[in-house]
Amino acid sequence: MTTQVPWVRSVGWQGLLPALGAQGSQGRSNIASMRPTVAILGAGAMGEILATGLLRAGWQTDDLVLAVRRPERVKEAEMRTGITTLLDTAAAAAGRDVVVISVKPKDIPTLLEQVADVITTDQIVVSLAAGVPIAVFAEQLEGVPIVRAMPNTPAAVDEGVTAYVGGENVDEQALATAAAILGAVGETIALSEDLMDAVTAVSGTGPAYVFLLAEAMTEAAIREGLPHHAAELLVHQTVRGAGTLLVESGKSAFRLRGEVTSPGGTTAAAMHVLDEGGFRALMEDAIHSAAQRSRDLGARARGDLPA
Ligand SMILES: NC(=O)c1ccc[n+]([C@@H]2O[C@H](COP(=O)([O-])OP(=O)(O)OC[C@H]3O[C@@H](n4cnc5c(N)ncnc54)[C@H](OP(=O)(O)O)[C@@H]3O)[C@@H](O)[C@H]2O)c1
Repeated sequence: MTTQVPWVRSVGWQGLLPALGAQGSQGRSNIASMRPTVAILGAGAMGEILATGLLRAGWQTDDLVLAVRRPERVKEAEMRTGITTLLDTAAAAAGRDVVVISVKPKDIPTLLEQVADVITTDQIVVSLAAGVPIAVFAEQLEGVPIVRAMPNTPAAVDEGVTAYVGGENVDEQALATAAAILGAVGETIALSEDLMDAVTAVSGTGPAYVFLLAEAMTEAAIREGLPHHAAELLVHQTVRGAGTLLVESGKSAFRLRGEVTSPGGTTAAAMHVLDEGGFRALMEDAIHSAAQRSRDLGARARGDLPA
C-alpha cells in the first residue's frame, strides 16, 4: 500500500523528527529520535548527488558511508564528498538505518549477493534502480522494508523530484523516513509501483529532454547570429525562468503557452513549425520508448529476459 506523505517536503527533515516520534513505532524509534544513518551502495552519479544533498540538508559525514566497486574510486569519492568510502559493500551496509542501492540495474544481482546476509529487518532498503521491481529485492531480503524510488539529476541542486513506493514490509514510519531522505534533494511524491516505469520515462529521464531542447535552441540561436556566450545565457535563463514560472504561477503549461502566443505573432509562427514537425508525437514516442526500456530492465532483473 502506498501512503501519501505530502508534508515531508514542506516541514523539512528537522520538522519531521517530532512527527515521526509522535507516531511512535517501537521498532524504529531510534530512527525517529536522530538523523538516520545512511549507506549509499554504488556511489556513482546518482549516489554522489544524494550523498552531497544529504550533507547540504544537515546530515554529518559520520552519518553516512559510501560503497564503490573500483579501488581508484575510493579516494576520488572521499575527496569529493568527505564521506568514508568502502570497497566492502557488506561492511558499508551493516548496521545503517537506511541502505540506499544506487548501482545500475544489471549490477543488482551481484550487489544483493554481497549484502543479503548483513541486512536485517530493522533496516530500510531504498532502491534507486530504474525498472527493478520491489519483488526482486524482497526475494533476497526476506522481511526487510524495501522502498523503490526514482529520483532525477536536478537533485544535485536540490531541485530534484523523486517518486517512491514502499513494499509490503514498509510501515508508515519507514516510508516517511525514506521520503525524508529522498526529500532532502527536492520534491517527493508517493505513487503505486505500476506507475514507476512511466515515472522513469517522464522525470527520471526528463532532464535529458530539457537538455536536448536547450542544446537545440542554443545551436539555432548561434545560427541566427548570436555569439555563443549570449546564446547560452539567453537559453539557460529562459529554461530556468520558464520552469520557475510553471511551478510558481500555479498556471498550466497550456495556459502559460497561450499567454505568450498572440495570433500572427512570432511564438505562433514557431509553434506552427513544431506542431507540423510532429513535436508532440515525437515526445510521446520518446517517453513511451523510455518506459518500455524501464520495463525491459525490470524483466531482465526478474530473470524473465536474458541479461
Ligand atoms: N543518473 C540518473 O539520471 C538516474 C536517475 C534516476 C535513477 N537512476 C538510477 O540510479 C542508479 C545509479 O545510476 P547512476 O547514473 O548513478 O550510475 P553510475 O554512475 O554508473 O553509478 C553506479 C555506481 O555503482 C558502482 N557499483 C556497481 N556495482 C557495485 C557494487 N557491487 N558495489 C559497489 N559499487 C558498485 C559502479 O561502479 P563502477 O564505477 O566500477 O562501474 C558505479 O560507480 C541506477 O540504478 C539508475 O537506474 C539514475
